[in-house]
Amino acid sequence: MVRLGFVCGLLAALSSAVQGYRDTEASDLTPRGGGKKVCPPLNRGGFIVNYFQLYPENADWDEENCLLWIGCLWNATVGVYDPYRDRMLDVLFFPGISLTLAHIGGVARDPYSGLISILSNSGNPWATGGADVTGERQLMKYDPKKKKVLWARNMTDISRDRYGGFQDVEHDKRGNTYIVGTHPGVIIRVDKDGRKLTEWYLHRPLSPTTRKGYSGLAVVKGSDIMLASDGDGKLYRFDLREERGRPVNVPLLGEGLRLNLDAIYLPPKYGGSVLLVADLLEGIQVLRSKDRTWRKAENLGTISKPPTLNGLVIDGAVVAPVQMGSNSLYMVIGNIDPFIPGMVAGNRTLFPFPDITNAVEGLLRRG
Ligand SMILES: *[C@@H]1O[C@H](CO)[C@@H](O)[C@H](O)[C@H]1NC(C)=O
Ligand SMILES: *[C@@H]1O[C@H](CO)[C@@H](O)[C@H](O)[C@H]1NC(C)=O
Ligand SMILES: *[C@@H]1O[C@H](CO)[C@@H](O)[C@H](O)[C@H]1NC(C)=O
Repeated sequence: MVRLGFVCGLLAALSSAVQGYRDTEASDLTPRGGGKKVCPPLNRGGFIVNYFQLYPENADWDEENCLLWIGCLWNATVGVYDPYRDRMLDVLFFPGISLTLAHIGGVARDPYSGLISILSNSGNPWATGGADVTGERQLMKYDPKKKKVLWARNMTDISRDRYGGFQDVEHDKRGNTYIVGTHPGVIIRVDKDGRKLTEWYLHRPLSPTTRKGYSGLAVVKGSDIMLASDGDGKLYRFDLREERGRPVNVPLLGEGLRLNLDAIYLPPKYGGSVLLVADLLEGIQVLRSKDRTWRKAENLGTISKPPTLNGLVIDGAVVAPVQMGSNSLYMVIGNIDPFIPGMVAGNRTLFPFPDITNAVEGLLRRG
């Protein structure tokens, strides 16, 4: 795994309505799905998806439609997968983005609107370790009911070429979307209609773009707490009520985070008390904040990437954790292969999703 920098990060977190969490205002939106209607358990164990050039980079569980939304890195498409029936229901192509040299990394369902946020970004920052942050950068809002992109917002006007590496997306209960740029670590806030963009967090003066900053975002659903993993091995907490983001270090009991971080995720099944952090090389780190305030957290340990799954060698990087169904937790594995001549991705068709449900449970019990 030489060019791991290529594998950009992932995914955003959904967490189910936090029981007993009362922190809402009259104008606040309420989460859709995951309330009374709960998706059935999957009970499938680890599995392999057979789909040409899927190359998942990020994925999010849709608690309303019981589907998995997959960001397909190299093709820059989005896979809509039914894990119960093992069927790829759709693959979304975006004109001017898919099958170019752009990537699609961040894909997340907005639990308040039910819309899917999709982030396209240039491959340049990943190919150059942040030295070149030019190129494609758009937020698209896809409506799964109407099956169309409602709006897209080009982020070039606000970022220019000062920073880049956009790879994860989150939402708050006021309709805002938050986008993280990893080089050197910025957070952009986009309002409900995609009209107003704010540099919500930006270190001033701006650090060099070769610094690897935040890799992933995760909001405790229904709250104003957003977590971000940083390239320095620390976890930070933001208060979404603030006009400008202010990172507060979350002290970790036990080891710090590892340094090759990618997506972070609060599995809906734990209601915001467990954070899973992907480390490209090692696996999934398991953190807990029993009271869900994330003023401090316990680092309970790391679940290693298994060497094989059902006989298939797992030779990729761990790019994201994700829940499927009411109970199951998975590793998402990203791969880099030589492109097929004339195409923008390699020749792979088999993509493993190792099951980490019991391993996570084991760490929670011991911790
Ligand atoms: C990737 O694109 C190729 C065409 O270039 C297509 O055959 C394949 O189905 C696509 N796969 C995904 C997951 O986008
Ligand atoms: C985004 O905006 C920039 C600057 O105006 C422009 O060069 C680029 O082509 C735009 N991208 C898309 C996909 O419209
Ligand atoms: C895919 O390409 C690699 C070389 O990049 C080759 O070794 C392998 O046999 C190919 N696999 C298939 C299924 O064509």
